[in-house]
Parts: sequence; C-alpha cells; structure tokens
Amino acid sequence: GYLAASGSQAAAKPSAGPVKAGKLIVLYGTESGNSEELAARAVKEAKKRGFQAVMKNMSEISPADLVKTSQLLVVVSTWGDGDPPESAAGFYQEFMQGEYSLSSVRFSVCALGDTSYEKFCQIGKDVDARLEKCGAARVAPRQDCDVDYEADFSTWLDASLKALAPTEVSIAAPADFSEPVPASTVEYGKKNPFPAEVLDNLLLNGEGTSKETIHIEFSLEGSGLHYEPGDALGVIPINAPDVVQAVLDAAKLTGEEEVDVKNVGKKRLADALREDYDITGLSRAVLTKLAAASESATLTALLADDAKEQLKEYNYGREIVDAITDFAPNGLSAESLTGIFRKLPARLYSIASSPLAHPDEVHLTVAAVRYDTHGRSRKGVCSTYLADLAKTGESVSLFVQPNKNFRLPADTTTPVIMVGPGTGVAPFRSFVEHRAAMGAEGKTWLFFGDQHYLYDFLYQLEWQDYLKSGALSRLDLAFSRDQPEKIYVQDRMIEQAAEIYQWLEQGAHFYVCGDAQRMAHDVHEALISVVEFQGGVSREEAEAYVENLKKTKRYQRDVY
Ligand code: 2AM
Repeated sequence: GYLAASGSQAAAKPSAGPVKAGKLIVLYGTESGNSEELAARAVKEAKKRGFQAVMKNMSEISPADLVKTSQLLVVVSTWGDGDPPESAAGFYQEFMQGEYSLSSVRFSVCALGDTSYEKFCQIGKDVDARLEKCGAARVAPRQDCDVDYEADFSTWLDASLKALAPTEVSIAAPADFSEPVPASTVEYGKKNPFPAEVLDNLLLNGEGTSKETIHIEFSLEGSGLHYEPGDALGVIPINAPDVVQAVLDAAKLTGEEEVDVKNVGKKRLADALREDYDITGLSRAVLTKLAAASESATLTALLADDAKEQLKEYNYGREIVDAITDFAPNGLSAESLTGIFRKLPARLYSIASSPLAHPDEVHLTVAAVRYDTHGRSRKGVCSTYLADLAKTGESVSLFVQPNKNFRLPADTTTPVIMVGPGTGVAPFRSFVEHRAAMGAEGKTWLFFGDQHYLYDFLYQLEWQDYLKSGALSRLDLAFSRDQPEKIYVQDRMIEQAAEIYQWLEQGAHFYVCGDAQRMAHDVHEALISVVEFQGGVSREEAEAYVENLKKTKRYQRDVY
C-alpha cells in the first residue's frame, strides 16, 4: 500500500505512467443510515454525470486506501456529543492520528449533524480539516447539515460534482436528487411517513416506580413497510398543547396569526408550532437567530467567542421558551418567531418486535422523559407525545430506518449474547421473538437491568415464557436499586466471565443496546476484562480480541 505512517520512511509513490481518470469514491460513515442513503444518492447522481463512482463505508476501508484515490466525496455524520458513528470510529481514529500523503486527492465533505448539540458536525469538520492537512485539495467547501439536510445536501452535491468535473456539467440549477417516488403507487418512507394506527399503548412499570416506560404497538397494515430485527422506527412527533401555549405566551402571540411554513404552505401559527417546528431545543443556532430578531444586546454578548462557557451554562436545562422570555421580553412577531426554529425532526427508536412474531405490526419500548428545571416542568418531545397523546386508536406518522449495523447472525445456530438494560432491551425482544419464530437452535443469553425487580422488570412474563420454551437460554438480571450497593449488567458479566468467554470462543455474537454515555462504555470495559482474565492474555491482547470481534461484526452496538 501507499501508507506513509508517521515516523516511517517516505511513502512509496504510485507507479509512474499515464494518469488514468480516477474513480470517484463516495466515502460514508453512518450511524442511523442517513449518510449511507445520501452516499448512495451521490453515487447515482455522479454516474448520471459520467463519473465512475463507487460508495465505500468507513467501516470497510482504512485511511491508507485513500492514497490511491483522486476524487473523493465524504458524507459523514456526528453522533451525540461529537462522536463518530460506531462503525466509522476505527477509521476516524486512525485518520486523525496517522500521517497520510493525500496530495493527489481532490475532495469535498458533507457533514451531517444536529444543531442542538454543541459539537455540531464535529466529525465532518475533523475529517475535512484532516484531509487538507494531509495535502488533499478541497474543491468545494464543506457543507454542514442540520437534521433537515435535504436541500443543503442537494446543493452541496451539485457544487461538488461540478467542481470535480467542470467539463461534464450540464445541469444549471441544483436539482432534486431525492429518490423518485413512482407516481402511480403511494410509497411510504421517510419523506412520506405512514399514518399508523396505535393498536395498544401500555405502561410497563409497576406502581411504586420512578420510571415511566411504555410499550406501544402500531399497525403497519397496508403500508408496504417492512423491517428486520435491529432496525429503527422513525416517529414524527407533534408538540404538546401546553408547550405550544407557553411559547405563544412568551412571544405574546395568540396563535391565530397566519404564517408561511417552508415546503408546507400557509397555516395558523398555533398549528405550525404544534406540527412543523422544533419549538423546544435550545442551541447556538437558535439563539443566533433570536439575537437578530430580538436585537438583544445581552444575548449578542452571550454569543460572543469569549462567552462559550457562559453560553453552555445558560443552555443547560433551558429551552427556547426560556430564551424568548429572557431576551425578547416584549414578544416577537409571528414571522420572526417561526424564523428562529428549525424543522421538527423525527425521532428514531429501536424496534422491539419481530415481523415474524407480529405480522403487520411494529412495537416500541419508550421511556417517557419528564423533569423540572429553572422553575418549569419539561418533557421529551417524542417520548411524551407517544406516552400522552398516541393512545389506542390514534394515528402516528412513522417510517422504517434500516440499521445494517445491528443484525442477528445469518446462521441461526450461532449463539448470541445480548446486553440491554432499561429501554436498551427493545431490540432484544425483537431478536428473541425472531429466533423463536424461526425455530433457531442457537443459544441466546440476555443481560437485563433496571432499577427495581418489582416495578421495572420489563417484559418479565415474556422472558419467563421464552426461558421455558428454550428460545431464551439464559437470563441474568441486575436490579441496581434493590440493595444498598449498585449492581449493574456489567457486574453480572464479570460474575459470568468464564461462561461468556466460552460462548465467545464458540463464535457467539455480542450485542449491546442502551445508554451510550456510561453503560455502553462500562460494558465494553467489562467485555475486555472477561477476555483478559478468562483468556489469560494481556490487556492489549484482550483489546485486540474485542476489536477483532467488532471488525468481524460479532460485536455490535446500538447505543444512544
Ligand atoms: P441506576 O438508575 O440505579 O443508576 C436502566 O436504566 C438501568 O441501567 C438502571 O438500573 C440504571 O441504574 C442502570 N445504569 C445506570 N448507570 C449504569 C452504568 N454505568 N452501567 C450499567 N447500568 C447502569
């Protein structure tokens, strides 16, 4: 290869000879599948314009492979608090640390992200800067996209393809590169969500709990939508009436004003606030627009470069309604109010059902988020929409978001170990139901945890039935608050280290779903310890073993 690792000798040069018109590589790093979908669209459009284009997942290549590339488009998302997509983490770390000579590469980056996070589009920004550092030539500026990425992506793709092949250009205006929808049949999907009937909506926790976890079932009948275990369901929420009213009050508006919603048309302000806009999520982007609309000097000062810490502190626990109250005390016009919002984004939930066990249905396990801050009660937009408003018989707009990075083993005899505390158990209900419906012979082992056995043992009866039938081979439980000391799933893993290691050696796949901030990290460490002590190897060797599990897709995570 042409890798010029830091400290190594000068990189070997590609062999001399006639320069061939290189392929266009569309490199993507994807978590929920959006970057992958956009990369596929980029390839399609590039081919239309005469490029030889292929898409490559960051999980499949190493940065050294880029040395041979002459034309490169990158679509990469940022996850949570500035993290790379799980499947792109290896590529990203290698690329940030190593030295590569990329002077023959011409590139442009499209970064996907979410402006409600401080490190908006951080991974795209890093990759863009790193490419330049390595000598690659940026042919079109990086495009940072918020959750509503369609228009920005199309503009970026058009500009980038023109810049890469200026002679090939035939299209003048940015075209719509979205997938064509056959005119004759209605096709449901992300752009045209299916209005699904709620078949059931029940609280899973028992009386006495501090948790509010709901199980909700939707009908997919007539939708043509299909999913596999591991996939996510996109839900289009609507804002709660009291939240809409609070924003109207803060802005000193009635809600009867008429507004023009982009791509939707004219409607009542109150309806637009309910259906079209993210009216809660506070971010630098929102405050910047509010500063312009309110002409608040205090807010402008808070947005200054030297006030980053103060801004972070202000945003913590606050929502848009607080900012309007604080910085636009005289209210706003309807147009300037809607001007500060972004589009209400869909939320993704890991699917909790198997299509084999529940044909024409899809189920979710959702924790309703409610808390109090700064003198107001707050609630998670989509989780409380599902808990409070999406009652049986109501209709909820949804779509399926495939997740190819979270899949049962193709071989039904392969053992699986699943770690899913709290709502992290959702995809494992789908996995176990699916294997049971298929009559799979492979062993299955679930680690579940929550606060209290009595109130929070989600799907207890189902697990007990599956243990009896053999569809579930083992169930290990960690109820964190039933005793003075905390007991977590990773503690149970350590107790069962010998057997876990045995399963791994037998080819087991290892899955983790749930909290990314602490749980997934602690479970990862526990997994390394299991291998270290049971395998009798060094810590480094154990890390390499676990890394290899990841590479061979035997260690998969769905964490949020
Ligand atoms: P806690 O709330 O008592 O801290 C599902 O929410 C379960 O995950 C709860 O029992 C919760 O315990 C637990 N949990 C919290 N932090 C965790 C961590 N770092 N690792 C594993 N489980 C954790």
